[in-house]
Amino acid sequence: MTAGVITIDGPGGAGKGTVSLAVAHQLGWGYLDSGALYRVLGLSAVRKQIAFENEAAVAAEAARLGVSFGADDPNLGVRVLLDGEEVTQEIRTEQAGKTASQVAALPAVRTALLQRQRDFEQPPGVVADGRDMGTTVFPHAGLKIFLTASAEERAKRRYKQLIKKGDDANIRALQQEIEARDRMDSERSASPLKAADDAITLDTTLMSIDDVVSTVLAMAAERGLSAE
Ligand code: DC
Repeated sequence: MTAGVITIDGPGGAGKGTVSLAVAHQLGWGYLDSGALYRVLGLSAVRKQIAFENEAAVAAEAARLGVSFGADDPNLGVRVLLDGEEVTQEIRTEQAGKTASQVAALPAVRTALLQRQRDFEQPPGVVADGRDMGTTVFPHAGLKIFLTASAEERAKRRYKQLIKKGDDANIRALQQEIEARDRMDSERSASPLKAADDAITLDTTLMSIDDVVSTVLAMAAERGLSAE
């Protein structure tokens, strides 16, 4: 049995995680949160005091990284474990996102994590969420979506998420952080954030999550990608 692949790429805060999980659930497929791999790697490198300038050492850490995924939680998304320790909340902070973006810019790190991501391609299928799922990791995917939303809207969404969790947040600071991370992810030379040539871009600024999910499911069905 072959596996179907749907890639959902785009900048941070565009709703990729929520949409990808919902689409995966509807299809009965697996889910790859590739950003979580970079986030866990960043956390592990910081804990072990590995300097990000030392690309070979960070890549070696990427190769040995003991990361595993648990069942998903309605508020936290997919549960993430580092060497068996739950780090789900620790890796979701703005600082962890920035750290992830720094380690993700190192080409040797991306190479070290490539096969680990490809291993998620299992029957009946996988919905893969990230920056380079459609361009580098799964170039043969049956459906490639590039999800965007204005930086202002993405900051608003992030703000609401943080407030819901009981955290403090400043919407202007969030927008600046989002824009800085967009720049870092788009301007790097290794697998930068960009839509694959054959990706369909969906601007979700004015769309609800439910609308986005049903649009993606309709596109998947059109291409014969559906629950087996
Ligand atoms: O999707 P996210 O916010 O959890 O990703 C965190 C960082 O990891 C993001 O700023 C860039 C990096 N990343 C990447 O370079 N490639 C991916 N496929 C996924 C994430």
